[in-house]
Parts: sequence; structure tokens; C-alpha cells
Amino acid sequence: MRVLVTGGAGYIGSVVAESLIEAGEEVSVLDDLSAGHLAAIPPGVPVFRVDIRDRDAVLRCLREHPVDAVIHMAARSLVGESVRRPDLYFWTNVSGTLSVLDAMVATGVSRFVLSSTASVYGEPVRQPIEEGDPTAPTNPYGASKLAVEAALGWYESAFGLRSISLRYFNAAGASRLRGEDHRVETHLVPLVLRAAAAGTPIEVYGTDYPTPDGTCVRDYVHVLDLAEAHVQALHALVQGAPGRIYNLGCGGAGYSVREVIDAAERVTGRKVTVRETARRAGDPSVLIASSARARAALNWSPQHNSLEAIVGSAWAWMCQHPGGYGD
Ligand SMILES: NC(=O)c1ccc[n+]([C@@H]2O[C@H](COP(=O)([O-])OP(=O)(O)OC[C@H]3O[C@@H](n4cnc5c(N)ncnc54)[C@H](O)[C@@H]3O)[C@@H](O)[C@H]2O)c1
Repeated sequence: MRVLVTGGAGYIGSVVAESLIEAGEEVSVLDDLSAGHLAAIPPGVPVFRVDIRDRDAVLRCLREHPVDAVIHMAARSLVGESVRRPDLYFWTNVSGTLSVLDAMVATGVSRFVLSSTASVYGEPVRQPIEEGDPTAPTNPYGASKLAVEAALGWYESAFGLRSISLRYFNAAGASRLRGEDHRVETHLVPLVLRAAAAGTPIEVYGTDYPTPDGTCVRDYVHVLDLAEAHVQALHALVQGAPGRIYNLGCGGAGYSVREVIDAAERVTGRKVTVRETARRAGDPSVLIASSARARAALNWSPQHNSLEAIVGSAWAWMCQHPGGYGD
């Protein structure tokens, strides 16, 4: 199957491309490289340097390079930036996604997998969060992804475009060859590992949450497990599965900020200095996914969900790529 991965030069997209190739699919990448890295794309994969907001260019790309399915990962995804610049988020994540969907309809492509996010839930009403729980995003990033999910239902009934939306919780870890190198890094695992490497302190926002050690608890899912879920979602669509939404997290009790820091100390063998600061506005104490639906319907079973596997793989990649992708 010919699969176009938009955002395939990014952190998760490049690992998804790698897993699709391992599964025997024919992969191409569409990315404007605004946040991704050419070096992250597996060798030999055709790359189309296109901005998804350019409707004509996206349509031209799909006409000239026909595909059978699209995995759509191209997006802006910085929560804080989205609050300051909602325009950027609605133009890229909503309008840009509509360019991709409309080009698919125009070229007869009917299988679509969306990178969605736990941010669509906002302040959750219960833990673990299930897909049918209320969605009330507290920032434009989450709102932009939720708007796309809503459009997808209507594209399916009007145009027969079937989609699976995967709501990721916290992606982390690395494959043997590809890891996390965001130009603006906001994710805990790489930040803690950078602090360990540099001997600089890491800020912990709030130590008085109602959690076992007082720090926030999150659901970390290894990027290899996330990538595997995309391969399985695609195969479900090929077998005729209807459009659906799935949470992707490891479930269980999640891991606290303190536990991630402790794991980073064990993995690196270095001491991490912590600077405790006040809570950040809008940070829920616990965010845990119920991934029961993905496990049952997609036969998805995360294989790398220990903190040692997640933090250890991220550290191994960082040691091999001290300057990231170097661009
Ligand atoms: N990293 C996480 O923990 C996480 C959690 C939930 C959801 N997500 C979603 O997963 C997807 C991938 O996240 P990531 O962490 O790999 O991000 P990333 O920034 O590493 O990758 C995004 C890619 O999209 C490309 N891109 C951005 N704007 C574009 C545009 N206008 N046209 C074409 N390409 C464009 C970037 O160049 C980059 O390569 C995003 O959709 C994000 O919202 C990520």
C-alpha cells in the first residue's frame, strides 16, 4: 500500500514512517520542514516539501504522486504558543488538514489516520479517560484537533472518507535510529535528560498535587508503540473498519514527574538537580488514558511501557546524537 505520512520529518512521524516500511508499506513524506528534520526521514523515502496550508500544492502532490492512504501528523503542537497565536493553530491544524482531506477526496483516497491528542479533553471529569468522556479543550491546540475530528465524521458520511483519530497522551522514547529533537522542547523526558547531561537544574511545577509524591502524573507511551498503533489503524481501515476515535496511552497508574526524574538518574547514572516552583495554571494533577478500546479493536498491545524502556531509549538516542539531527 502507498502511504503518505504528512509531518513525516517530525519526531513521531519519522518513527511511524520507519514502522510502516518495516511492515512492508511504500512510504512517502509530505512536510514543510518548519519543525522537522530531513535527516529523520528514512533513507530512500520520497519527500515532498509542501506546506499543508497551500491547498493547490497539496492537491498537485496527491495528483502527481497517487497514494492509497494518508497518515496525517503535520501540525503545530505547542500549547503555550497556541494560546498566544491561535491563528497559527487554526490555519495549520484545521485549514491545513482540510487541504489534505479535500485533496484526498479529489483524488479518490479514502483512508485517513489523524494524530489527535489528549488535549481535546481539557480538564478530565474522571480517570482513566475514556473516548466517550466530555471534550472541553482549554487551549487552541486542543480545540483545533477537536475541530478536525468533528469534520472527519461529516467527511465520512458525505464523501466515504474513513478515518481513525488517535488521541495520543505523552509520546516519549526513541527507536534505535530516530528520537526527539524539537527545536522548542516542552516535553519532560528530553528536558530531564538534557538537564542530566548538562548538569543544569530541571524545574518541577508543583509538588503539592493530590498524587502519591505530590507531582503531576502523566501517561507516557513509547514512540515505537505509538507507531505500531498507526500500522494497526491503517490495516483496520483496509479491512473495512468504520471511522473511530481511540486513546493511546499505557494506562495503569501512569508515572509522576518525580518518577521520571528518578528513572533518568538511574538510566544516566547522573544526579539531576530539581528546582521546585509553583504549579502551572491549567495543569491537571493526573492524566491517564483508558486504551481498552484500542487494545480490543486494533489489537494494540504496548510492548515498551516501562519507564526504563522509555527513558533508556531516549537516553541511548541522545548519547548517539548529542546535537540532535544537527540541522
Ligand atoms: N509529541 C507528543 O507527545 C504528541 C502528543 C499528542 C499529539 N501529538 C501530535 O502528533 C503529531 C506529531 O507530533 P510531533 O511531536 O512528532 O511533532 P513534530 O513537530 O516533531 O512534527 C510535526 C511535523 O509537521 C511538520 N509541519 C508543521 N507544520 C506544517 C505545515 N504547515 N505543512 C507541512 N508540514 C508541517 C513539521 O515540519 C514537523 O516535521 C502532531 O500532529 C501532534 O499534534 C504529539
